[in-house]
Amino acid sequence: MNLRSGRLKGKMSDEAASFNSSLEFDKRIFEADIELNTAHTTMLARQGIIPEETAQNILKALKDLKEEGIEALDLDISVEDIHMAVENYVTSKIGADAGYMHTAKSRNDQVATDLRLVLKEEIKLIGNSILRFIEEILDMADEHKETIFVGYTHLQHAQPTTFAHHLLAYANALRRDYERLMDAYKRVDMNPLGSAALTTTSFPIDREMTTKLLGFSRVMENSIDGVSSRDFIAETVFSLSMMGSTISKICEELINWSTYEFGVIEIGYEYSSTSSIMPQKKNPDIAELARAKSAVLTGELMTIMTILKALPYSYNKDLQEVTPHLWNSVDTAKAILSIMNGMLSSITVNKERAAELAKSNFATATELADILVREKNMPFRTAHKIVGRMVTKALESKVSLDDIDSKFLDKVAHEIMGKSLDLNDESIRKALDPYENVKARTVIGGSSPEAVEKVIVSLRIFLNEE
Ligand code: ARG
Repeated sequence: MNLRSGRLKGKMSDEAASFNSSLEFDKRIFEADIELNTAHTTMLARQGIIPEETAQNILKALKDLKEEGIEALDLDISVEDIHMAVENYVTSKIGADAGYMHTAKSRNDQVATDLRLVLKEEIKLIGNSILRFIEEILDMADEHKETIFVGYTHLQHAQPTTFAHHLLAYANALRRDYERLMDAYKRVDMNPLGSAALTTTSFPIDREMTTKLLGFSRVMENSIDGVSSRDFIAETVFSLSMMGSTISKICEELINWSTYEFGVIEIGYEYSSTSSIMPQKKNPDIAELARAKSAVLTGELMTIMTILKALPYSYNKDLQEVTPHLWNSVDTAKAILSIMNGMLSSITVNKERAAELAKSNFATATELADILVREKNMPFRTAHKIVGRMVTKALESKVSLDDIDSKFLDKVAHEIMGKSLDLNDESIRKALDPYENVKARTVIGGSSPEAVEKVIVSLRIFLNEE
């Protein structure tokens, strides 16, 4: 069926036809379009809008098409889009009666519905893959509750922690990424079908019926909104972009940590490359690419937001241009999630090096100040000043952490308070020991093995409930 033969004289130029065509990225909604046409035709027949026999013929042709697959379609660019290609196929099977299928429907509500149907499935897949990633992280965390690690702020030594505690930062961020995506799902799961071009139709269609047949939770209650809104795409891509940001941060850490300078982890050979000239190289290419590809998600989000901004209601062809960016986001998100999961599980932790770093550069100084507050009953600010001055002195006179004792501390105390602290050396030793630091942080969210275990348990409960 040539759509143009009524209103238009002659063909589009080849260049314009190719510019206008969405066929390439419409392939993703091929099956959804059959499903939609099946539901719509079923409803039209049940409502007595089209003859039962015609409906049966249409449904049979749609069933055949589903079996034959997309190869059965004529996808010449002059066909414009998948909706016309499907209708043309049905016409080739049953003749002009195929035209009944398009009663009370427009490609405008069709494409909005198809995109939602497919995106629902994609979100479920991505959601599951986030859950699997969290599970993998929890398994790793289980093994590293006692693995001392150094935590950074400003990428400067900050305080000792454990590798498990750090991993749970990833797991909690990913849980929110998951929840955000699932929240977007609720607004993807709405049915615009029946909006037709923009104002519904005067045929007595049953929109609740197609909503049910297509498995949507809700029907969209304004037809102009139904055909013109793509916020469901924007927020899904935002959720993916946010998840990409989480993943890129993890990549960044793996890249840093696997350097000779940090040396706290080793990325598996399966996820490493080498150099064509420098024979010694083991490069974290995969982590670098995943870090870079997360930018694609943010880029696509910007493109989508910019297309949508200031569009007049209702349908505009600009909306078609959103679709390829949606699919690219979905594919990129899937790819980086999957590779990230494998790569993180491939790492080995150099526990000795991590423990050495946790002890270096006075990463335990906060605990020493805390002990002064507790044992010497002084305001934290005063303790902060004494320990800060003590660190400067130690660095200047090249006194290492292990050599700090009560006498050394008292020299500083005298300068600042004019008297000694007489802290016992055992308290100082404990304060400066990274493992004691970690063990003492037993509050909710803390680094102690018990606090970490509680979070692992709570995340496992979350995984089981999803
Ligand atoms: N291919 C179009 C899209 O993706 C389908 C809707 C076309 N509607 C129209 N009136 N030309 O948005």
